[in-house]
Formats: sequence, C-alpha cells, structure tokens
Amino acid sequence: MVHVKDVLKSMEYGPAPEGNEHVLAWLEAHKGGFGHFIDGRFTDPSASKSFKVANPADGKPLAQVAHGTAQDIDKAVAAAGRAFKGWSKLPGHERAKYLYAIARNIQKRDRFLAVLETMDNGKPIRETRDIDMPLVARHFYHHAGWAELLESEFPGYRPVGVCGQIIPWNFPLLMLAWKIAPALAAGNTVVLKPAEQTPLTALAFAEICREVGLPAGVVNIVTGEGDTGAALVAHEGVQKIAFTGSTDVGRVIRTATAGSGKKLSLELGGKSPFIVFDDADLDSAVEGLVDAIWFNQGEVCCAGSRLLVQEGIAEKLYAKVRARMETLRVGSPLDKSTDIGAVVSTEQLERITALVAKGKEEGAEVFQPSSIQVPGTGTFFAPTLMTGVEPASTVAVVEIFGPVLVAMTFRTPDEAVALANNTRFGLAASIWSENINRSLDVAARLKAGVIWINATNLFDAAAGFGGYRESGFGREGGREGLYEYLADDGAKAKGKEAAKVALTAAPSPTAQIAAVDAVDRTAKLYIGGKQARPDSGYSYAVLNPSGKQVGLAGLGNRKDVRNAVEAAAKAEGWGAATAHNRAQILYYIAENLSARVDEFEARLRAMTGVSKRDAAEEVSLAVRRTFFYAGFADKHDGAVHSTKSRHVTLAMNEPFGIMGLLCPEEAPLLGFVSLVMPAIAAGNRVVAVPSARHPLAATDFYQIIDTSDVPAGVLSIVTGNPGELAKTIADHDEIAALWNFNGSVDAALVDKASAGNLKPVWNGGARNWRSTDAQGREFLRRATQVKNIWVPYGE
Ligand code: NAI
Ligand code: MG
Repeated sequence: MVHVKDVLKSMEYGPAPEGNEHVLAWLEAHKGGFGHFIDGRFTDPSASKSFKVANPADGKPLAQVAHGTAQDIDKAVAAAGRAFKGWSKLPGHERAKYLYAIARNIQKRDRFLAVLETMDNGKPIRETRDIDMPLVARHFYHHAGWAELLESEFPGYRPVGVCGQIIPWNFPLLMLAWKIAPALAAGNTVVLKPAEQTPLTALAFAEICREVGLPAGVVNIVTGEGDTGAALVAHEGVQKIAFTGSTDVGRVIRTATAGSGKKLSLELGGKSPFIVFDDADLDSAVEGLVDAIWFNQGEVCCAGSRLLVQEGIAEKLYAKVRARMETLRVGSPLDKSTDIGAVVSTEQLERITALVAKGKEEGAEVFQPSSIQVPGTGTFFAPTLMTGVEPASTVAVVEIFGPVLVAMTFRTPDEAVALANNTRFGLAASIWSENINRSLDVAARLKAGVIWINATNLFDAAAGFGGYRESGFGREGGREGLYEYLADDGAKAKGKEAAKVALTAAPSPTAQIAAVDAVDRTAKLYIGGKQARPDSGYSYAVLNPSGKQVGLAGLGNRKDVRNAVEAAAKAEGWGAATAHNRAQILYYIAENLSARVDEFEARLRAMTGVSKRDAAEEVSLAVRRTFFYAGFADKHDGAVHSTKSRHVTLAMNEPFGIMGLLCPEEAPLLGFVSLVMPAIAAGNRVVAVPSARHPLAATDFYQIIDTSDVPAGVLSIVTGNPGELAKTIADHDEIAALWNFNGSVDAALVDKASAGNLKPVWNGGARNWRSTDAQGREFLRRATQVKNIWVPYGE
C-alpha cells in the first residue's frame, strides 16, 4: 500500500511563477531610461551619464538609470531646501495626510512593487510580498501617526532641515521607507540616493509621490553610485545624513562629515549571534535559523550569522539543521515556492565564495545540502553551514552577507555571553532557551541594539532598530527613531557665557612642580578613586583674569586617559547597580557639595573673578543640578513598544559604558556638574576633562567624590590641554561615547578621531549653563542607547 507520507516525500513542486507582465510593461514604458526625481519632476534621462541595472536571477538588463553628478545633487538639495520652508511649517495633521496617502498607495500597488523588487534584487517573491511590502506600508502608516502627534509629543524639538539619505541594496524599498517616513513626519525634506544595484523601486516610489500630490521638492531621488552618495554627504545644504550600508563606508562618511555639524545616523554591518541553550526547543530554533540566515539570502545586516550552541546539544542541533537545509529551495525568485533567491550581484557572489573558501582553508567543515542544485545562470549560492569554526577565524569575525552560517560551541551562559560579545559589531542577537530568567539575564548582558528571544529577524515600525559599537549609532523606528530627525531647541539657546574660548587659553608645561616647594598646591588628577600625579610630571599655571597665578593643575596626557579608562573598565558594576542606588549616591554628592558651598564659592571667585553673588549662584545651581539628576536617575524609563506581533518589546535605556566628557570652559563648576551627573546617573563611567582655564573647581570636586561613596573608577578627572586630551579620548576604542562641550576643542578633530570605533559624538555647542535648557531628558537620552528586546507574549 502506498502511504500518503511517502507520496508527499517524493512529490515535486510544480512551477508557481508570479506574473510580472505589469512590471515588464512599466519597464518597457521607461526603456528610454530613468532620470532623477528632482523638485517633483523626472529629469531627462538622455541628458545624463547612465548605468545599467540587471536582474541578478538571469543577468538580463532591466533598465538604464541616470548616474547622478555633483550638479544633480546640488539641484536636488536646492529643491529640498526650498520645499523645507513650506513643508516644515505645515501642521502635522497635513503632513500626516500625505504619509497616509503614500501608505495607501503602496498597499494598492504592493503586488507591482513586490515583483519589481524581486526582479531588481533577486530576493524571493514570497519575501517581498509577505515581508518587505507590508513593512513598507506599515512604516508610512506608523509615521503618519507621528506627524499628527509631533507637536504634542516632542515639545521643544524642530525639524533638522534637508536630509541626505543613502541606502543599500538588500531591502531597497524598505530601507527607503525607514528613511523617508520619519524624515517627512518630523517636517524635514529629503534627497535620497538608492543603491546602484537596486534603484528601481525608489523610482516607482517617486511616481507614487507625484500621484499623491506630495509638494515638489519634499522627496528627491537621485540615482547613482558611491560618488553620487559622496557628493550628497559633502553638500553644505544638507543638515543631516542617514546612512545604511557597510561599516567601511560608514567610517568614510563619519570622517567626511567631521566638524560640519551635520546630524548623523549610521546603520552598519553586523555579525549577530544566534545563541541556542541546551534547554531550547530545538525544532523551533532550527526554524528560527532558517529565518535568521537564509532569509533574504543572508544579505541582512542583522542576520543571525554566528550560531553559538551549547556543547551538549551541538551535534544534535547540527544534524537537525543539515536535514532542514536539504529541504530549502533555491531558484527563481519569482517562483512562489522559492526559499532562497539570487545574491544581488556578481561582486557579492564572489565575496561570499571567497570567504567560504577562506573558512575551509582555516579549517572549517563546510556543509551544503546535496539536494540543492543552484541554477546555472544568475548569481546563486547554496545555503551553507560551517562547523568547527574558531572564534578568531575570518569567517567568525567578518560579515559575509550571504546564506552562510558559521557555528561554534560554548559550555556555560557566561561563555556564551563572552563569545557573543566577542565582536566589534553589536547590531542584533537571538537567544533560544525555555528558561525566561536565563534568556533575560543574557539579553541584559549582550552588547547589541536589538535582541530577540526565541525569535529572530522581527521588525516593526514601532520598535527602534540600530546598533551598538561598530554597527553604528542612532535608531530607526519608534519614538527613539524620531529623534534622529529632530533638533532640540536647547542647542539653539545662546547664553551670555556662550563665547568661545580661544585655543591660546590652553595650558602649556610652563610651571614644573618643584620638589622643594614646601606646600605642594598642585591639583592632581583624579583616577580610579585616587589622586594621581600626571604622567608627564608637568603642571600648568592656573591664572585668574588679572594674570595672577591661583594654583597649578596637572598636565594630563594620553597615558593618564588610558589609566582613567582602565580604572573605569573595572567599575563595570556601576551600570548594573539599580537606578535607585545611583540616585542615592548622587543625592549624597549634592549633600556634600552643599556642605562646602563657601569653599567652592571662594574658589570660583579667586579663579574666575566673578562676583560673590555670581559664584554663590553657580555653586547653588550645581547642587540643584545634581539633585535634578539624582531625582531623574530612576525616571529615565524605557518603554514597551506596541509592535504588530504579540511581543513585549522592551525598549531599555542602557548606558554606553565608558564616556568621555569635554566640559565647557565657562561655568567651570556648573558646566562640569551638568555633564557628569546625567552621564553617571544613567549608569556610565566617566572620564571628564574640566575647563582648562579654570580647572580647580573640578579638581576640588574629588573631595566630594571621595566622601560620597562613589565607587572608584566611576568618575575620573583629567586636567590638561582639552584639544590633546580630546583626540586621545576620541581615538580610544573602549570609550563608547563622547560629549564635547568645550568651545576650544576642534569638533572636526573629535569627529574624525571617533571614526575608529564609531562612537557617537555629541558636539553640544554653547549653552547657558545657568538656565534649565542646560539640563533635562536630552542629556539622559544622549547618555544612553536604546536596546529593544522582543519577548514572546501571549501565544
Ligand atoms: P556600500 O556601503 O558600499 O553601499 C551602500 C550605499 O552606500 C550604496 O548606496 C552606495 O552607493 C553608497 N556609497 C558607497 N560609497 C559611498 C561613499 N563614499 N559615500 C557615500 N555613499 C557611498 O556597500 P556595498 O559595497 O554594496 O556592500 C559591501 C558590503 O557591505 C556587503 O558585503 C555587506 O557586508 C555590507 N553591507 C551592509 C549593509 C547593511 O545593511 N548594514 C547593506 C549593504 C552592504
Ligand atoms: Mg561599496
């Protein structure tokens, strides 16, 4: 007797191609080529240099697309600048209506867009139809809501201006939606450059903008290659750059925008861990892996590309994975039963092939399913599992961006965390365990911006997405994502103290500490909970406004900063302490400071020559500010996002770790306190460089720290030349974020040096430190990064 089960096993899938006549007709109608979309119109395609776009599944040409020049970018930015005046002034409700109309229109055309995307990119129609397009529409709907609510939900914020947006080829229309929807909702206008491999859905989107009557110039699309993107990044009329792509180009952009004051968000590469504990539901984990690494041919920035599995179940899991891989279907992306389509380009295929060969060379065992025959034409790559991979081997470290999974084992949860965090990236992670305590404990310890528990690759417009470390900074989606397209008014407020300090105010090693000096009045550095002599052995004279020496301060150098970072690294417990504990310590600091008001007042007067009244006010405000952040320490809450799927999506505000603070020259005590307190209240450890001209109020502060139970290493104070120290701090790989409020420090230098580990830099600009503009949520927000943890709920 024939069993149904056996019949099912031997049955072949019939072809199930999705029709593409409508797309072919559209391409035929544009056979003369595509121009740019600038100021509400398409430019004449015959007027530009152009390049060919092909279907990766068969290599056949699809269209001829204009290659944008610096002049094209210039026109587009000018159009966006003109449109900004009207668009930013529109009531949020009016902008909401446009975004809503775009969302509706996308839904109306979703089949067309899905097919076009599949032909342009090579990804399976099942994914463009069921994942990309619904998320694109969802993003515009969600942000139509933010446009409506902007005024009431973001008081004190305004749109940034013209946004330059550069996107990659892996999710072309989805990345466009992630960029354009929040930008427009917040009142900005945009110039977007799609990837050269996949510009077609962006051009179809331009047609939608026309159809819904979006005002001319609000959205501009300039197609082109890397040089087109570079021209956009460099343009002076652009106030913000948003980039998704490779970490290498992210660094180039960080460097190119250095000192320009342009707001920047970077969403870069990843090598995200997929951690399977021995108590996991292994069959679910296997399905999870399919979605983690074989979704979108593995060309996903947050792909679960590093499988970390607990030793005892490793062979069992590998066997299940191999068996499941045998059932994956590689083939025509337009076929509805295809799981894995074509890789985007020959270049990408070569890269993947070379990396797999390298893995083999380095000793990995490579498995590809015997059942899979990749098509003879087109850029296809079979799903691949590499086992026996060493944590330091190339394939375990480098982003492959293809359907290639590398696997390693661990013994204990601690080891899993260490392995998971053993990467320069920090985009995402996936944790598989039936034990909720273990899952959440591990989630808290992973350094990644997005964490999925018993799930993977979940996205939603309501949840922020973005990385830690070299995966970039800034978030897309959710409330946290909107800040990337807003400027806070506080930054505009110029106080009477806002004047810049000339670099000549920087100290020089004039006064050497004289060993014979009976009273050593030299203020030392404060590192790891102890006073420390500067490594240089030098100090500099601190002068009052009439040029009289009022003391000596240590001339800190590179070595002192390194020591401070080392001490900070040992104080890791501070971030894990409860916010209540941190609040208690801040209150204690405030209390101890208020007990020494007279002393600090006298110091300020002697050092800066201010009146008694002014000095008294500064000290009393420093006490209040410390109270303010003590009060806020346990109120900088995260959120539970209302994502579309049944999850408790926790948006946790996590400290960066170690922060570098370049304090303002003016308001030597209050400026110092205004930066240090929010940073440590949020759970960071801090290396602070106080005012160089007036460092003594900050150096006196160590006595307060000493008597307030602040753990050693949480706050180190390094005096010296702010410019030199800034460079060292910006360069330092273990310093995760940097605030520069010192007007004498060259912002360009700091930005450039920060490109190494891609730390976010806040060049805060001048503030009136006595005003309440110089305190508040913005400081806490800048002292934290949002980690979104998706916890299954209800099903
Ligand atoms: P890429 O970073 O060069 O390209 C991304 C976008 O940046 C494209 O629109 C490109 O035209 C533009 N671009 C290139 N150079 C630029 C410059 N100097 N200034 C401004 N814009 C510039 O990425 P590519 O070469 O396509 O892929 C290389 C590798 O990058 C991949 O193998 C993958 O590992 C990674 N990647 C990561 C992505 C992510 O989502 N995080 C997306 C695409 C690639
Ligand atoms: Mg490139």
